[in-house]
Amino acid sequence: MGYYVTTPIYYVNAEPHLGHAYTTIATDVLARHMRQRGEEVFFLTGTDEHGEPVAQAAERLGTTPRELADLNSPRFRNLVARVNATADFFIRTSDAEHEDGVRRVVQGLYDSGHIYAGTYEGWYCPRCADFKTEGELIDGNRCAIHKIVLVREKEDNYFFRLSAFQEPLERLYAERPAFVVPQHRYNEALSFIRQGLTDVSMSRASLTWGVPVPWDERQVIYVWIDALLNYYTALSYARPGQDLESRFWPPTVQVMAKDILKFHAVIWPALLMAAELEVPERLLIHGYLLMDEEKMSKSLGNVIDPFQVIDMYGTDALRYYLLREVTLGQDGSVSPEGFETRYASELANEYGNLASRSLAMIAKYRDGEVPSAEAGAELIADFDGLADRVRERFDALDLTGALDDVWQLVRRLNRYVQEQAPWALAKDPAEAKRLDSVLCGLAEGLRVVSVLLYPFMPDTVARLMAALGRPDSNELALERARFDPTPSGHTIAELPQLFPRVERPLASPAA
Ligand code: MSP
Repeated sequence: MGYYVTTPIYYVNAEPHLGHAYTTIATDVLARHMRQRGEEVFFLTGTDEHGEPVAQAAERLGTTPRELADLNSPRFRNLVARVNATADFFIRTSDAEHEDGVRRVVQGLYDSGHIYAGTYEGWYCPRCADFKTEGELIDGNRCAIHKIVLVREKEDNYFFRLSAFQEPLERLYAERPAFVVPQHRYNEALSFIRQGLTDVSMSRASLTWGVPVPWDERQVIYVWIDALLNYYTALSYARPGQDLESRFWPPTVQVMAKDILKFHAVIWPALLMAAELEVPERLLIHGYLLMDEEKMSKSLGNVIDPFQVIDMYGTDALRYYLLREVTLGQDGSVSPEGFETRYASELANEYGNLASRSLAMIAKYRDGEVPSAEAGAELIADFDGLADRVRERFDALDLTGALDDVWQLVRRLNRYVQEQAPWALAKDPAEAKRLDSVLCGLAEGLRVVSVLLYPFMPDTVARLMAALGRPDSNELALERARFDPTPSGHTIAELPQLFPRVERPLASPAA
């Protein structure tokens, strides 16, 4: 069975910012790690183009929703490339094939009695594209997220019988304690379900930007139903002529931030059960990137432009920083200063210098040949079980923990250089054997941490592996991440500077 990972599809009402990059990067780290394990991975991302958020933004800009979508969707696609995410398909919900798929599923739900006509009366936030209960409002009539005053709406709509899935959902949660990761998000979703589910409106009469309801063209399908189904429809046309559904359905891990937990942890599995499709295996819910304690978001204007960071520091530095700085699953503050610090102290110094020093010593003392020797026993012991620990971390979707486990060994190697002082050994011909052992251990340790760092910093690792004389992509398989106590010799090559000094400090967005 294939391994199917997804990001949310992003609204095209604004340009991408670092928050979107974060989800896409985290998903890519998971996808790359799983490919290192030999899994067949399908990685989906894309843009959510229908609905009120996009229609309203277009109106504000004096353009049409389609034009806005055509302008911004490529920017998100470009971001995927710039963060070096290995997405297998980029879906746009305005794709004709997606729209057909949505109509098919929704018609099926209607035919099987899961959808009925009714009247919606209550609060609706067009910016969230979400119906609000009284308890979710602030000051009685304002959206807690966008702070805008909402109007009460009354509209004839079609409803999805979500209430019928109260028990099946409770059973799902009981049977699958890891359905939602981390645990506190699982608890949050389950308690929402236990409060009692009411049916949800699944169409809008007052909107034209969307997929028409097949049996009543005066209405369009509610954007969230349209959007959620992207994960399913994409498989039907991403690879014409191939049956991806049988290989990849259901999704293995769906990644997103906590803002859209309810849709994915409650409505989505109910919708799939109603359509008699299997529900995803796990949802991975991360927190928010914060800037000065506030969620980074376009509406608050406190966004960092990922393209700018990448232009200055490179993609891998950004990937590393986000996964290292923000514990996946919790909110975390990011800042230009924090980025600079980690860039200089961890990437350039701890990893970059370790690599360049080690290779320089092999070049200088052993004429560019990694000696074929026996690595030191304590170093061997320190690497013991590392690859398995990392594997377990990824199984638990603890990407932060995996990176930290590897980084401990990067630091260990730095200490090893200090302790062994190869430059001193090199002065004493009687220590030649020990020097062989130290240099061979360093090269081997560097190789192992690099294989494990590959999902986080793919380009950097590829360059380092080439310099270590192991350019073959087979070398990146996870099974190669075992420390070989007596590695055979290798000729090293020149290593370009991995993390060059960047003079211009990252401009703060306020500046
Ligand atoms: N279109 C819907 C999702 C439909 S999925 C079937 C949507 N789009 S969105 O453009 O608002 O994207 C929300 C997602 O973007 C979050 O769930 C998260 O993945 C990412 N993020 C946006 N801002 C973010 C932060 N400040 N921090 C972390 N993630 C951020 O909702």
